[in-house]
Amino acid sequence: MKTHHDWQEIFVECKMNVQASIKPCLATIKEPQPNLGIGAGGDVMKPMDLAAEKAIVDTLEAHGVSFTLISEESGVQKFGTTPDSCFVTADPIDGSSNFMRGLPFYCCSIAVSDKPMLDAVYAGMVADLFHDVTYTALKGKGAFADGEKLRPSKITSLNDAMIGLDLNTYKAKDVAPKVTALIGQTKHLRHFGANALELCYVADGLTDAFVDLRGKLRATDVAASFLILKEAGGIITTPENQPANIVLDPKQTLSFVASGNSQIHEKILSLVK
Ligand code: IPD
Ligand code: CA
Repeated sequence: MKTHHDWQEIFVECKMNVQASIKPCLATIKEPQPNLGIGAGGDVMKPMDLAAEKAIVDTLEAHGVSFTLISEESGVQKFGTTPDSCFVTADPIDGSSNFMRGLPFYCCSIAVSDKPMLDAVYAGMVADLFHDVTYTALKGKGAFADGEKLRPSKITSLNDAMIGLDLNTYKAKDVAPKVTALIGQTKHLRHFGANALELCYVADGLTDAFVDLRGKLRATDVAASFLILKEAGGIITTPENQPANIVLDPKQTLSFVASGNSQIHEKILSLVK
């Protein structure tokens, strides 16, 4: 059952409160940041991760939302009296390593669903916290960046394409052979370091596709951006061209190919293993 909340309004407030909550951390960015234990997603938690998560929870509670939080940091927690009617999947800061080095590419990702399944997400936001751009989507209603309708790229030739490729892994020996043919045929490759936001770049036509075959990207990273890309008109499948649907849990991971249009998607699928 979908809740009656005005998600658009709540998302914008979440973004503003997250931005305010991480400001003190930005001021001390050049100093060593304390480790606050291992988060539910398996990474070390830093002060800005927990500050951002608290800002999200506080904002939802202030709006009277009862929900089950599925977070990359604190894991699964229930809030309010009917938490099983609304699942909020969050990566409070995606691109934490960029943030800690002062690299201006990091975001906050929040997805809302009535079941803890990726294909049940009906509202999503990815906020580019540095450039202050808010990407949002509601199922069946399109995807927007600060109110402007998103349109993915129409580029179909790999020779003209700019493709995001995540090779961020120690297991290069396993992943490299899967993408060697694609690398050999693609003119421009990129990886900016916050995959939720990179998927919004595909939705916005800034890049043409994004490929992550490491099998380690978490459900919390993609829950909102998959809806945003699909609502913009893009395509996401597994490398085997199956629907990319997984349980929303901080430990669930996946491999996928995400593209701006079906022609380039087919070309990429034919080249990856
Ligand atoms: C990371 C980013 C990065 C990807 C990593 C993710 P985090 O998220 O999305 O681009 O290569 O696999 O874990 O840790 O900064 O939230
Ligand atoms: Ca992340």
